[in-house]
Amino acid sequence: MLVLEQLSKTYEGARRRSVLHGIDLHLAAGEYIAVMGESGIGKSTLLNLIAGLDRPDAGRILLDGVDLTGLDDDALTQLRRASMGFVFQAFHILPYLSLAQNVALPLILNHVDEDEAAARTHAMLAAVGLEGREESMPRELSGGELQRVAIARALVHQPKLLLADEPTGNLDPESAAQVLSLLREQVKTRKAGCILVTHSQAAAATADRIVILTAQGMGAPV
Ligand SMILES: Nc1ncnc2c1ncn2[C@@H]1O[C@H](COP(=O)(O)OP(=O)(O)OP(=O)(O)O)[C@@H](O)[C@H]1O
Ligand SMILES: [Mg+2]
Repeated sequence: MLVLEQLSKTYEGARRRSVLHGIDLHLAAGEYIAVMGESGIGKSTLLNLIAGLDRPDAGRILLDGVDLTGLDDDALTQLRRASMGFVFQAFHILPYLSLAQNVALPLILNHVDEDEAAARTHAMLAAVGLEGREESMPRELSGGELQRVAIARALVHQPKLLLADEPTGNLDPESAAQVLSLLREQVKTRKAGCILVTHSQAAAATADRIVILTAQGMGAPV
């Protein structure tokens, strides 16, 4: 479903920094992989390139055969909205919107009609264990609950690809384990492919496969 071919990225500027060189990766539809690697090696950069939030210097990113590097910004935005979901370490839940309004955002951006959006939001909140919490405000939730809202929002529009960057980095081990088992269950139920970036062995162990990003490229763990 997702194929990276010889992807390279150098940050230009005062301090020129070559981050990724010749990265190859295959992600099958519905496959859930963990990407590990030392801090600063380029894991977040890699997710940004796949999401189309930044552009590679060389290489191709194929999503179901479409090369994202050939698309203009508008086309990339459309594709990101329709086909991708994101979960970040810092949640990015909007504080002045209710849980339902937060979760419904991707549906609104994709012009799903109001009744259907409400029904899907309700079902998605229930699926992450927050049934009936539509009108709650983010400040009333714990970190683990907020991350479950973030997972609901990332999956509500049935994206084919979910990108998760350290989604449990701010959670205690018990909440982290709960969030990860929920993430796995939801990506598998919804048949989304998932790339989980993490520093945690316990988190990575929930994936189908682990790949390590090093200065030499992508590899299997030794
Ligand atoms: N916009 C930018 N401009 C210049 N350099 C950048 C930029 N973004 C990231 N970098 C540099 O690129 C390198 C890779 O950063 P990246 O955030 O991808 O690492 P990471 O593997 O996600 O690290 P961590 O595990 O700490 O999150 C770092 O040295 C960082 O300083
Ligand atoms: Mg990072």
